[in-house]
Amino acid sequence: MRLDVFTLFPEWFEWFRAQRHVRNALDAGNELRFFNPRETTPLSAGQVDDTPYGGGAGMVMRVDVIDAALRAAYGEERPERIVLLAPSGSQFDEALAQELAGASGAALICGRYEGVDERVREHLATDTVSIGPYVLSGGEPAAMVVADAVLRKLPGALGDERSAVEESFSDALSGAPEYPHYTRPASYSGWEVPDVLLSGDHERVRRWRLARSRERATGSRR
Ligand code: 6GU
Repeated sequence: MRLDVFTLFPEWFEWFRAQRHVRNALDAGNELRFFNPRETTPLSAGQVDDTPYGGGAGMVMRVDVIDAALRAAYGEERPERIVLLAPSGSQFDEALAQELAGASGAALICGRYEGVDERVREHLATDTVSIGPYVLSGGEPAAMVVADAVLRKLPGALGDERSAVEESFSDALSGAPEYPHYTRPASYSGWEVPDVLLSGDHERVRRWRLARSRERATGSRR
């Protein structure tokens, strides 16, 4: 797939792009591109934002600037999904990550300053997404979260394809969080690994893991 990030701060993503699983996904034929709306703004002096109608603090990113950035990147042929990252969006989850990973192309638009002109959400975006109930100073960290969750689902991103199948919130666990993991040493400072995991009984191990995963889903244990 092709994942495009629209950001005024593409340098935020340099470290992200260099990470192993991201490079694996790109080596496997996927694309990750960055577009800076400041470079395609129709306004003079690189202007991208403006004061809010009705007054108030802060600046608002302009709809004509975002539209020009999309037009420069795509012409009239826009990707399947255009996701605006904003704290007022609907909560990002594994299901949306899966949908985006299955799309031929997706754009992530990072908001900045006080916000983005509402017409971006109304007329340009297919989805408006938040990564949680708190406010970040910009959409960049949120776009990185979304990009990470999406890219790791693409074939070839993870070294071990099994790890993406049976992990937290995946279908294999009926959407429940992952079961707890343990490794050596079996005993440390009096902290013991559950006996069942040392038993070699694969069926008991499977049932135990499923039960712990379900407990976590229902919050019946911390
Ligand atoms: Cl997508 N953007 C901002 N600015 N803050 C957030 C967010 C997004 N998701 C949670 N907080």
